[in-house]
Amino acid sequence: MVIEPRTRGFICLTAHPKGCEQNVINQINYIQSKGTIEGPKKVLVIGASTGFGLASRITAAFGSNAATIGVFLEKPANRGKTASAGWYNSAAFEKQAQAAGLYAKSINGDAFSKEIKQQTLDLIKADLGQVDLVVYSLASPVRTHPETGVKHRSSLKPIGQSFADKTVDFHTGVVSEVAIEPANEDDIANTVAVMGGEDWEMWMDALQKENLLASGATAVAYSYIGPKLTEPVYRKGTIGRAKDHLEATAFTIADKLKAIDGKAYVSVNKALVTQASSAIPVIPLYISLLYKIMKAENIHEGCIEQMHRLFKDRLYNNKTATDAQGRIRVDDWEMREDVQAQVAELWTKVTTETLPALGDLKGYADDFFNLFGFRIEGVNYEEDLNEVVEIPGLQ
Ligand code: NAI
Ligand code: NA
Repeated sequence: MVIEPRTRGFICLTAHPKGCEQNVINQINYIQSKGTIEGPKKVLVIGASTGFGLASRITAAFGSNAATIGVFLEKPANRGKTASAGWYNSAAFEKQAQAAGLYAKSINGDAFSKEIKQQTLDLIKADLGQVDLVVYSLASPVRTHPETGVKHRSSLKPIGQSFADKTVDFHTGVVSEVAIEPANEDDIANTVAVMGGEDWEMWMDALQKENLLASGATAVAYSYIGPKLTEPVYRKGTIGRAKDHLEATAFTIADKLKAIDGKAYVSVNKALVTQASSAIPVIPLYISLLYKIMKAENIHEGCIEQMHRLFKDRLYNNKTATDAQGRIRVDDWEMREDVQAQVAELWTKVTTETLPALGDLKGYADDFFNLFGFRIEGVNYEEDLNEVVEIPGLQ
């Protein structure tokens, strides 16, 4: 079939297999153009199919020749419906990895569950023996707790007071005011249960207990801070509480990993268009202004550039500089004072009328469609395609 984008709000219901493949190839080419990194050798990536997790997997495999196991939750094609983008991404990644002689296998299922954890442990045991890097890059709106069976739902709400500010519908370019009522205690607890560090710690405990972590192994998970203007809905809101918890968990895990001479970090990454971030109010408008400034300053990065810098200049350069809270920072360019001052200035002026000149809404929208394999250079979108694609290493 000929596959076209079909959007509903901030999600796209279709994905393009060739476009997703080209996306993955472009990321591989970027990593290969940068030379090798003395990095990890056997890697588990939890949340490996899109965004930062996919970029981490590509960096490990094609930057350091690492064997990789990816865990994700994606949908195969079904009755004329396309597969999800992460499915096509993983198919493309594993095809390229295997062609390059690299071990690459994956597990598709709920990473929060005991079953998927056990399946992953068994695969590591059988094929790799141990891993020396664990990347935790899940982003999910829900988590069924493996002990209680309770289904927790995260929310994106301010805490303590309601919040009102500008936001944009990036399909239409209309800038409007959004108002969000404050979270209650349940909202906070549920968001921490979904996006906090408990599941990361469960993964690390299970791996360590079964002796599947190599001596000196590293664990890393991803966080976000962002500017003052998104604080009420992000860092000081429900999701921020979850990130506080995730960051605190890094210390708990680091303590446990001392037994194997291992390390655990949170890396604070840059704001980027991903399936997760397009769902957060205010952030798309912030990102479109940020992109404009960072591109003008020649310091714009996507997921792959970010993960390349994380591996090469932070995790594997033998000095791992962290901030006062022990976090790795690859959001350093986003947070540069001059960059933030310019964004804050634009923020006061931005309206539906001024956005096309002040912001990079086109960059935002292109990135959004790129996530699903659309608007990628060199792809023939008229082509009649089979939407059914196999992931070579799927277990
Ligand atoms: P994403 O939506 O691109 O990736 C999420 C991944 O999690 C996918 O591989 C998906 O299949 C997997 N996943 C979701 N639920 C799952 C489940 N139940 N079982 C197994 N796999 C599941 O998200 P993104 O943006 O790459 O986020 C990854 C991390 O990076 C998150 O912690 C996020 O908060 C953080 N981050 C994101 C930033 C952004 O601007 N996008 C900035 C800084 C940090
Ligand atoms: Na990810």
